[in-house]
Amino acid sequence: MGAGIAEVCARAGLDVVVHEVSPVAAEAGRARITASLDRGVRRGKLTGSERDAALDRLRVTPDLTALADRDLVVEAATEDEKVKVELFAELDRIVTREDALLASNTSSLPIMKLGMATARPHQVIGVHFFNPVPVLELVEIVPSLLTAPQTESRAGKFVTQVLGKKVIRAQDRAGFVVNALLVPYLLSAIRMLESGHASAEDIDTGMVLGCAHPMGPLSLADLIGLDTLTAIAEAMYADFKDPLHAPPPLLLRMVEAGLLGRKSGRGFHDYSEKGN
Ligand code: 3HC
Repeated sequence: MGAGIAEVCARAGLDVVVHEVSPVAAEAGRARITASLDRGVRRGKLTGSERDAALDRLRVTPDLTALADRDLVVEAATEDEKVKVELFAELDRIVTREDALLASNTSSLPIMKLGMATARPHQVIGVHFFNPVPVLELVEIVPSLLTAPQTESRAGKFVTQVLGKKVIRAQDRAGFVVNALLVPYLLSAIRMLESGHASAEDIDTGMVLGCAHPMGPLSLADLIGLDTLTAIAEAMYADFKDPLHAPPPLLLRMVEAGLLGRKSGRGFHDYSEKGN
């Protein structure tokens, strides 16, 4: 999702620095953004010169200190509380601008914990995008109990006025608004498959043709990534202790097997050349 967020920011005219964990990841990140912009040009969404201008505004680097002068940082690291808490503590040391907003794209982890990892929890806020970021218009804004009202209004203006997306406000509870509704539905579809109640194809076709969803729940789980879905479900289970959010064994086994959905080439469906 980080690539999608960087792309929409650069297309909106912002000067963007993207931090990736290694030189290889930085190169792959830039290639992913370039491929998405090229696809936009092919689809007539932007011109070749707009693509080139967006790429000129984007720097991808493995050096975290390159974020020092930023006025807004959007963290989109893996959905792991320890990783994110450590990153926020480091960002707090690195980002020198006193008025900088430190935002997280987390789907389910407490914004409060990220804020408390810094000396400026009043400037820490959840800014949660949806996948694919260039297509989906929604962003959830999630203030913690300590987020300042000015932080919330600045984050809201960034999303609506700069990126042209729509905002809904959610409380700092695992899953916020959308995943609180979506994740139990996706887990129910996985349990339905697991119990032999229906095939993956029929479950997806049922929701696409029967409810006019753009994609079925198992295809959507594959798009989100089964490791990410598991992490979100586990965070929701930890917050609410409701079996509704417990990841089904089939999902856990698939993650253990490296079957992570689209990004690994296979999840509930096959995305390899063989499967297409
Ligand atoms: N980047 C940029 N644009 C993309 C894209 C991508 N990755 N994927 C699709 N698009 C664009 C296409 O260019 C096309 O644009 P156009 O119609 O203007 O030419 C449009 O989206 C439709 O794409 P396609 O014709 O290729 O395919 P579909 O019509 O099947 O749409 C889809 C694909 C946009 C993924 C659609 O199926 C969809 O919206 N699915 C639901 C996605 C969803 O629910 N996301 C939320 C996930 S939950 C989440 O993100 C929260 C997190 O915390 C887990």
